[in-house]
Amino acid sequence: MAEILLEAKGVSKRFGGVLAVNNVSVQVEKGSIYAVIGPNGAGKTTFFNTLSGYYLPDGGQVIYQGREITDLPNWQRIQLGMSRTFQTPSIFPELSVYDNLLIGVQSQKKIAFRLRLPSAARKREIDERIEELLGFVNLVHLKDRPVAELSHGSQRLCEIAMSLSVDPTIVLLDEPMAGLAEAETERIMRVIRDLHVRLGLTVLFVEHNMRVVLSLAHRISVLDRGSLLAEGTPNEISNNQTVREAYLGQEVVSRV
Ligand SMILES: Nc1ncnc2c1ncn2[C@@H]1O[C@H](COP(=O)(O)OP(=O)(O)OP(=O)(O)O)[C@@H](O)[C@H]1O
Ligand SMILES: [Mg+2]
Repeated sequence: MAEILLEAKGVSKRFGGVLAVNNVSVQVEKGSIYAVIGPNGAGKTTFFNTLSGYYLPDGGQVIYQGREITDLPNWQRIQLGMSRTFQTPSIFPELSVYDNLLIGVQSQKKIAFRLRLPSAARKREIDERIEELLGFVNLVHLKDRPVAELSHGSQRLCEIAMSLSVDPTIVLLDEPMAGLAEAETERIMRVIRDLHVRLGLTVLFVEHNMRVVLSLAHRISVLDRGSLLAEGTPNEISNNQTVREAYLGQEVVSRV
């Protein structure tokens, strides 16, 4: 069996009276694309936040590369190679695409940029890295534009490029296609596939759209009211009777 890169073991998270995540276990194989799907309020983002270190779970364990990281703060997880994006954009809209990337790349290159300017060689190295990241998401031609002027799809791609600036092993994407039109959804899908095919990264993403999930993911978890309703390959999920009846409905799945 392939190496498990990231694992949740019986993770729970409560907000007051709401059990947002209820005893959820998943295993994400190294190099795979893994999707978490579920209706609004199912607990997807909360679960995600326990994996990336934004929330401490009330129960259960998170294991990464064979090491328990349940209590590890987010920034230390980033150092271990876990990178994430948010459901709402977390880029600086008034800055250019280049400058947004610069923030990520500089922090990675450990340059104290307020204290001293990088040397010419250093700057070249950083520029090359930014070009490489923007090339990967096909945004090089927009690098001098303020992010606010970009389409929503390009803003999402800019965020994905930023998440790559830390040289991650796994990228966690919370609804990268949310609110996007069909053509832009396709652009993001291509990039997610490339993260796996070209960069060999592991991808864990949250998504509403069943069609997207079934065509991209190697394995899928379906969350419903905080609990894991089903887990399996796209084929298993689209043929799962509980998923069909309780959540998706016959019609949604059969249209895929
Ligand atoms: N910070 C919070 N404080 C209190 N309750 C919260 C908090 N975050 C989430 N919840 C509640 O936990 C449940 C799960 O929310 P969560 O945002 O994880 O769902 P989701 O599956 O990501 O939904 P969506 O598809 O709308 O993004 C919901 O009932 C929500 O109201
Ligand atoms: Mg969410």
